[in-house]
Formats: sequence, structure tokens, C-alpha cells
Amino acid sequence: MSILEKIDVNNTPDHIAIIMDGNGRWAQKQGHDRLFGHNFGVESVRETLKAAQKANVKYLTLYAFSTENWNRPKEEVDGLMDLLVRSLGNEVEELNKSNVRILTIGDMDGLPEFCQAELKSAYERTKDNTGVNLILALNYSARWELVNAMKKIAGKIQSNELTPEDIDEDAIIGELTTCQIPDPELLIRTSGEHRVSNFLLWQIAYSEFHFTEVLWPDFKEEDLFEAILDYQSRERRFGMVSEQIEKNA
Ligand code: IPE
Ligand code: IPE
Ligand code: MG
Repeated sequence: MSILEKIDVNNTPDHIAIIMDGNGRWAQKQGHDRLFGHNFGVESVRETLKAAQKANVKYLTLYAFSTENWNRPKEEVDGLMDLLVRSLGNEVEELNKSNVRILTIGDMDGLPEFCQAELKSAYERTKDNTGVNLILALNYSARWELVNAMKKIAGKIQSNELTPEDIDEDAIIGELTTCQIPDPELLIRTSGEHRVSNFLLWQIAYSEFHFTEVLWPDFKEEDLFEAILDYQSRERRFGMVSEQIEKNA
């Protein structure tokens, strides 16, 4: 029986978010520079997307560049921006054919103009597609997102569109860059690091976490299926007790 066949199709996460980590270490282990690892990471993105399609996942969010990643050496940052544009250019046709919709979260205005243009064109080209939503987190940090949401809410209060009493969870969700996207049921981080690194802090309030030692360029279809199986072995209690969950099942 293949791993895919072991997956319960009635209990797959609609949304999987991945912190794709370990490209640099993967490359350095083989005596190459870090960009070599980032290049190979693109192949893992391709594989993971295909696996997500097979497993009927509807939203796949990939943490591709954090706000903190600007602090890396300029050569690496420039290489990552080039890689983003090159990969989108190469893949968008194929993605469009397979009905993938490309979305972004993060501060797009802070990206170089040539990246913004490529992203906008990928977004326009795929916006009517109804298959997997591929969400690229770029120049993203959860604290930036939350600060931004607070500023927008304050502005609405100032212009009398809202009162402080109107602020509830939905009002906050509506100002996040993920406002059209459901929360991820499953968060995966590769490379053996057990931290969140400023990713989706609001949205992962009740996500299940799956950590794997696999470095991102080695992450393949089966690794995504393994993560889904691990997710399916968990009991999600949302504050309740086991007996209540069993009764509702
Ligand atoms: C993840 O791999 C990719 C990005 C953050 C862009 P890293 O580049 O962080 O690889 P390691 O963690 O240094 O091995
Ligand atoms: C998190 O990885 C960001 C991305 C995967 C894009 P990092 O490698 O930047 O995270 P830290 O610095 O180890 O926490
Ligand atoms: Mg890293």
C-alpha cells in the first residue's frame, strides 16, 4: 500500500503551510554555496505542489522570504529575488495549465519592482483558476501583518467606520493579508528547527505542527504524505475533552 493510499481522504487538511528551511545547510554539506541549495529547493516546491494536488489540499502556503531575511548577505538576497522571478517565469504556464491559482501574502511594496511585476502577472494570469491555491509568503512577517492590521483598524475608528466595540476576531481577520484564506490545519517545518520564525502567528492558533529533519531540497512527495498521515493521527480537541470529540464524530 502506498503512503498516499493510507491517507484518509475525508480528513485531509484543506490548508497546509510550510516553513521551507535548510537550503543553505543542504548546499554547504556538499561544498556548494547557499544559492545552490535555493535552486534545488525549487524542485521540492514543484514536487510538493504535485503531492498537494494528489492529496486534495486546497491551499498550500510556502514561506519563501521573511522580512528578517533582508538581513542576509546582499548576494544571497539578490540571488533569491532573481530565483523567484526566474522560477515564476518558467513555471507559470505549467501552473496555469494545472489550474493553480497563485496568491501572495506579505508586504509586496517592499519587494524590488521587477519581482512585483512578475508576481502581478502570475496573479493576473491565474486568478480565475479553481484548483490549488499556491500562496507565496514573500517579505512576510506575522508581526508586520498584525501591526498593519492594527493601523487599518485604527484608521477605520478615526473615520468613524468602526467603534472600539466593533473590534472582534472577524474585524481583525478582515485586515490580515490572509483575509480570503482559511487558517492552516497543518504547519510543517523542515530542517529540524523547532520554531515559527515570525510566520502566521494569528492563523496557527490551532494548527497541528509537524517537524521533520529533512532539509527542504530533499523534501519530496512522500514527505508531504507522511506529514498528512501524522496530522491524521492527532486528536484535535479545541479545548474540549476526548469524550466530547468522540461523541461529535
Ligand atoms: C530556507 O533555507 C530558505 C530561505 C529562508 C529563503 P535557509 O536558507 O534558511 O537554509 P539554512 O537554514 O541556512 O540551512
Ligand atoms: C524562515 O527560515 C523563513 C523562511 C523559510 C523563508 P529562516 O532560516 O530565515 O529562519 P531562522 O532565522 O532560522 O529562524
Ligand atoms: Mg534557515
